[in-house]
Amino acid sequence: FQIRLSLNNMSTILGIESTCDETAASVVVDGFDVRSNIVATQVGIHAKFGGVVPEIASRAHIENILPVLREAMEKANVELKEIDAVAVACRPGLIGSLLIGVTAAKTLAWCLDKPLIGVDHVQAHLYSVMLQSNRAPEFPALGMVCSGGHTAIYQVQSFSQMTLVGSTIDDAVGEAYDKVAMILNLGYPGGPLIDKLAQQGDPKAIAFPRSSLGKESLDFSFSGLKTSVLYHVRGHKGLAKDVSRLSQQEIADVAASFQQACIDVILRKLKRGIQQYGSKSLILGGGVSANRGLRTALTALSVPVYMPPMEYCTDNAAMIAGLGDYLFARGMSSALNLDAVTYSAIERAEVVK
Ligand code: KG4
Ligand code: ZN
Repeated sequence: FQIRLSLNNMSTILGIESTCDETAASVVVDGFDVRSNIVATQVGIHAKFGGVVPEIASRAHIENILPVLREAMEKANVELKEIDAVAVACRPGLIGSLLIGVTAAKTLAWCLDKPLIGVDHVQAHLYSVMLQSNRAPEFPALGMVCSGGHTAIYQVQSFSQMTLVGSTIDDAVGEAYDKVAMILNLGYPGGPLIDKLAQQGDPKAIAFPRSSLGKESLDFSFSGLKTSVLYHVRGHKGLAKDVSRLSQQEIADVAASFQQACIDVILRKLKRGIQQYGSKSLILGGGVSANRGLRTALTALSVPVYMPPMEYCTDNAAMIAGLGDYLFARGMSSALNLDAVTYSAIERAEVVK
């Protein structure tokens, strides 16, 4: 069943996503037309821990997966027999979480006798710029995935062919947002809260560090920035108990200055990457690509910039179904013994000299 007979037919793909703490299912037609996009978020469950607890996440996926699948099919007004293939995010992610989506996808593919397509979650974040628009970026592109789990730059030949050219050596940028939000006592997840608060603050109020990691480097480091925010808020060595000694305006200034430091570093690395690789466009993806400050700042780049529509920035299954369609149209599918894998299979490129 691994060969598709016609490349011209429109395909209806069911996508499943369960790599981290969102259980999601979506029906996408022709790789861009999103007929349903159901996301059961576990944010409320993990909020009191300030981050995702893997064991709790996998248990929640088990409870959510069938209702989410049912809702996605109903909303799309599609019968299971009308699906052409089942796409699933099979890497990278938390192993217990991945296993739920992958098992559900294999079961459906086997029962329905339909092709199964294993999709890389990181590649799917970049594919999300195609959803609803179907406007393909100019390749080779530079791709930037910034989320709670990933902060990485890719040299993108196509949506299925890319190499890693830079990544964080410590925290992901979304993780830094979440931790800074905790320091500021704002809640979880912190990204959207800091984004909002930053509008009321002065981005120049505090000169937080911007780590460069060398003149040529496309790697990132956010842990120094995070510690710097901690010391600014809680005093040297973080001895003050909490944020209560700061006024509302001072807290907004911290949020704005932290956000500006993140944006400055990302922008600098992207300019460098576009130059080093002669990229014809920039593709952005991942939860932090919803950040308003970042979206505005990227318009300063010299190449066309492709950003996902807001609802497809954070984890969703439409991007999985969409990339599934892209792979399916190129004759790619997976065997029923598809494995869930914790790491991404995208390889690191040779260092550019
Ligand atoms: O892509 P995503 O849903 O999950 C991963 O693959 O990690 O990204 C979630 C991350 C969280 O860290 C969240 O705080 C961040 O994206 N985020 C934002 C914004 N919306 C979500 N960060 C900055 N600004 C936002 N508006
Ligand atoms: Zn993600």
